[in-house]
Amino acid sequence: METVFPGLHAMQNVHPLLVHFPIAFWLAALLFEIFSAVRSNEDWHRNAARFLYLGTVFGIAAAITGWLAQKLVPPSGDAHAVLETHETLMLVALTASGWLSLIALLRPRLSSAQQKWFLAGLVVLALLTVFGSDRGAELVYRYATSVRLP
Ligand code: HEM
Repeated sequence: METVFPGLHAMQNVHPLLVHFPIAFWLAALLFEIFSAVRSNEDWHRNAARFLYLGTVFGIAAAITGWLAQKLVPPSGDAHAVLETHETLMLVALTASGWLSLIALLRPRLSSAQQKWFLAGLVVLALLTVFGSDRGAELVYRYATSVRLP
């Protein structure tokens, strides 16, 4: 394992392996919903909904691995404060994704006014994702959590 995947072997938790999936799926959902609104095309909305579902599923996996990874962060101090901000923002994002997924599932066709609200929800989700993920990256690149120094 170490010879084939030295990078993977050096990792102390699998959270960084999963986090890019919900980020990419949520941003893709926003992009597709924008196309759907601009082109008044329901196919794009259906694809946006599919990306959203995937984002929710992978978001749950990211949250579980995040909780497992938090033991690697010091229990108090600056890094811990960043961890709490990261956790809160990502859990609010995941909750928003869950609700939006439920709406998309229960209401496959949206009126133009409903679509505007749905789009607004995806914008909020994207903002939470961008700022929350930034705090996750800060844990690694500023506080070097889980980084093995030579
Ligand atoms: C959808 C949910 C989540 C996403 C998308 C996410 C995203 C991220 C990202 C992008 C990083 C930086 C990884 C890197 O640059 O290597 C990170 C790190 C981290 N996140 Fe999350 N996160 C999520 C949920 C959580 C939760 C619920 C916790 C629980 C407290 C958590 C704890 C951590 C920890 C401890 C780190 C540092 C990992 C390390 O040192 O290897 N995350 N997260």
